[in-house]
Amino acid sequence: MEFLVKSGSPEKQRSACIVVGVFEPRRLSHAAEVLDEISEGYLSSLLRRGDIEGKVGQVLFLHHVPNVLSERVLLVGCGKERELTETQYKQIIEKTISTLNDTGALEAICFLSELHIKGRDSYWAVRQAIEATQDSLYNFDQFKTNKDNTRRPLRKLTFNVPSRKELTRAELALQHGLAISAGMKLCKDLANMPPNICTPLYLSQQAQELDQRFDKITTEVVDTEQMKALGMNSYLAVAQGSANPAYMSIINYQGGPTDQKPIVLVGKGLTFDSGGISLKPGAGMDEMKYDMGGAASVFGALEAIAQLDLGINVIGVIAGAENMPSSKAYRPGDILTTMAGLTVEVLNTDAEGRLVLCDALTYVERFDPECVIDVATLTGACIMALGHNISALMSPHKGMVHEILGASNQTGDKAWQLPMDDDFQKQLDSPFADMANIGGRPAGSITAACFLSRFTKAYNWAHLDIAGTAWRSGANKGATGRPVPLLTQFVINRSEQEIAELDA
Ligand code: BES
Ligand code: MN
Ligand code: ZN
Repeated sequence: MEFLVKSGSPEKQRSACIVVGVFEPRRLSHAAEVLDEISEGYLSSLLRRGDIEGKVGQVLFLHHVPNVLSERVLLVGCGKERELTETQYKQIIEKTISTLNDTGALEAICFLSELHIKGRDSYWAVRQAIEATQDSLYNFDQFKTNKDNTRRPLRKLTFNVPSRKELTRAELALQHGLAISAGMKLCKDLANMPPNICTPLYLSQQAQELDQRFDKITTEVVDTEQMKALGMNSYLAVAQGSANPAYMSIINYQGGPTDQKPIVLVGKGLTFDSGGISLKPGAGMDEMKYDMGGAASVFGALEAIAQLDLGINVIGVIAGAENMPSSKAYRPGDILTTMAGLTVEVLNTDAEGRLVLCDALTYVERFDPECVIDVATLTGACIMALGHNISALMSPHKGMVHEILGASNQTGDKAWQLPMDDDFQKQLDSPFADMANIGGRPAGSITAACFLSRFTKAYNWAHLDIAGTAWRSGANKGATGRPVPLLTQFVINRSEQEIAELDA
């Protein structure tokens, strides 16, 4: 689909469809009022007759409105004008898209991007509209023999902003929105891929693919032999029960000067987490194909960053492995020597993510990172704490917390900080090794982060637990593409800081 931004007046638009809002109770938005005037009160007469109340979710599709140059007018309910929330705005856009898709209009001009949402500007409105549109058009049907055959005639969508002086920002919003949507699509496609296809090897091939597609990306793959030589025994222990060997991919995006320290993003890439010998229960186990959601989001962020051609250095690390039970599998009771030299007693083979990540996090020290963010579907406890719409953020670094929550707020890709005080560390005590790989039931997400913190002392580090947010279960099962918006925004903000520092 093609997107455009412009700033024009509603009565001058000659489009297949013009989309304008109606507020509750039966009040025309500014753009609708303009159309009402030229149509000599046609729209207000419909409102008086009660054809549309203006509630969120309502739509009224009109043809041949008197004197209106556009062929169709779509009235969209926007709720109470002063109470319009961000979530409602996205719902309104989604409803608009699904309605337009069911009609014969090939293109449309949308004035809903002029709606006012508290604390947000037209940059935000345009960008969110693009992201919501692309998100609602996404489906994963490559394994369906009969594809969903809705006609999807909508090819071109223009978002209008109230004034010409807002156009430059709106263009930027368009660019950002498109890149982030492309990143989210890559993230979703990888995460939705079945685990018999999406293996650690497959992830490494996809990482090579980014190298092929972007000049500024170089990919290197570390295989099992090389990991052995590096002493990544903890990572390899997780993978040893599987016939699909581990691969760790290093995706290097060089957008900045060579001497600039990179931002490093490390993604948990468990292409399937059966739990291993500490086998998970059967119900819903298929969803453990999403245990590479962190890695998928690192792919997505790099896609967006490369498309935006940001002038900054970013390294993505894809920590691919599969956790399976077998006679070769690691077991509860095993003591592993990590790449860092610290020893870990395995008490539960299902707490495998931290065992893979700890070695990947030690590995990245060689890049002398500006900062490191790891992204992982790490703990079920995270879902208990924050549910399915908020990712957990843990970091000993106040500045990074501030920056990441800032990026979260800008994008609506929600995150919330959990504490990681030192007293949680003792839950990891082991009688036989430097630490155990689990810390008991209380504060499970925090003790997982505490485990990782022991391997991240050499740099500024933050951890995102996306167990609740990476995918949806139930009838609408599927990857969400999160936290691609948050990660990309974090990098955009850093690259803008770089530019500001150069100018100063
Ligand atoms: N990948 C899971 C975490 C998970 C579970 C994410 C369900 C999303 C939904 C992780 O590897 C895991 O199994 N964690 C265990 C840790 C426990 C054994 C300490 C968990 O959360 O149960
Ligand atoms: Mn597990
Ligand atoms: Zn896992």
